[in-house]
Amino acid sequence: MAKKPFHLAWFLSQGYGPKSWLSDWPGSDLARWMMPDLFIDLAKGLDRCCFDYMIIEDSSMVPYTYKGSHDTYLKYAASTPKLDPAVLVSWLAQHTRHLGLVPTLSVTEYPPYLLARLVNSLDHVTEGRVGWNCVTGSNDGAAQNYGRDRHLPHDERYDLADEFADVVTRLWEAWEPDAVVLDRETPMFADGAKVHPIHHEGKYFKVRGPLNAPRGPQGRVPIVQAGGSPRGQQFASRWADTIITDGGNSIASMKAYRETVRKKAIENGRDPDRIKVLFLAYPIVDSTMEAARERRRLEERAGSEKYLERELSTMSRLTGIDFSRFPLDEPLPELTTNGHQSSLARWIGKTPRELVKTMSSKDGIDFTGTPDHVAGLMQEIMEEVGGDGFLLFNAHFDRRYVMEVCDGLVPELQRRGLTRKAWAHQHFADNLMEF
Ligand SMILES: Cc1cc2nc3c(=O)[nH]c(=O)nc-3n(C[C@H](O)[C@H](O)[C@H](O)COP(=O)(O)O)c2cc1C
Repeated sequence: MAKKPFHLAWFLSQGYGPKSWLSDWPGSDLARWMMPDLFIDLAKGLDRCCFDYMIIEDSSMVPYTYKGSHDTYLKYAASTPKLDPAVLVSWLAQHTRHLGLVPTLSVTEYPPYLLARLVNSLDHVTEGRVGWNCVTGSNDGAAQNYGRDRHLPHDERYDLADEFADVVTRLWEAWEPDAVVLDRETPMFADGAKVHPIHHEGKYFKVRGPLNAPRGPQGRVPIVQAGGSPRGQQFASRWADTIITDGGNSIASMKAYRETVRKKAIENGRDPDRIKVLFLAYPIVDSTMEAARERRRLEERAGSEKYLERELSTMSRLTGIDFSRFPLDEPLPELTTNGHQSSLARWIGKTPRELVKTMSSKDGIDFTGTPDHVAGLMQEIMEEVGGDGFLLFNAHFDRRYVMEVCDGLVPELQRRGLTRKAWAHQHFADNLMEF
């Protein structure tokens, strides 16, 4: 095998919120979920075994789509509460050395100048390790917290995102790399000739610029993107440095997705090798196949029985459709959404109960087994798909899980020469583009 390594990233799903509080894991300190201890332990583990980045999911509302009430969401801590991911990034940066740190920040919640400023500040204090998960929002509950009754139509949100990303990236580069002179004698802190207003006037935004701080270590920070709809893919192929996707439920669909993205990148005049497509995977590893399978069985049973409502409420939040309306054992009819279109498209024709069973795992490909087995499976998939790596997640992880991944699965990937064992660069962007 040609040993081109692949990338690993971690998806902190359900964001900076309570994690394994429903499991009876001894030692989980429920009342302190908002303190960053568990997240720091996770980030240190990922840093130790050379993950490219950790992305912190976010949404900013208490949803009320399911049954028209926020009760289910609050009862299960489903999609809420969440603290601000940018705050967590500053903490994690102090406890890690190379890991890329990627907060989710929505173009329908921030004005572009404020977002450019925040991310630029984080790029400075992380010494070049921040990224931006650029999302467009989906649930009208969030739109209602930011001055609108509902979100703009789905595709128009991506039009707005195009203009937004253009403004933000120009603000990041408004100070030339050598604009800061630091000459005490003259005196000249920064050279005015090398700091440029952007004078942007577009359909959605009006921004003079320049940013009120020098270019960050990375200048333009890596952009992460997840939109899976045709319009979302078009946006991603223009702006993203790395795309996160569940890629469908088969190796063939993963391969097709990656090839589509690469083709679109070429149409946009970009080098397709500079967009790293990472596929969601939720591995369960244990010392024997039986032990791992038993854990997966328990997990799926909890999903389909104990936490049925929690999962249905999440599906409702993502699409704005109240899934309490549908019988549990009848296939879903044709539905449309102004929210997550690519997710909904995959749910049609399946029953709510079937969907809930696999909500927290990945239907189709089963990453369950010993570290050797799961590493072998990942190897086969990457050989078939062609690259670029995996985005691991577990919505309810605890410290034991972090160890199983960072000290079990990843060392086996490294032993096979599949993922990196050391860092070549200081900046997130350079490590991402290394292979
Ligand atoms: C792995 C993954 C992570 C995502 N994280 C977020 C997030 O943190 N916040 C958010 O608002 N949307 C998130 N999304 C949603 C996407 O940004 C996008 O809105 C969604 O996939 C719908 O896009 P589409 O209609 O183009 O398919 C995520 C999607 C995926 C697949």
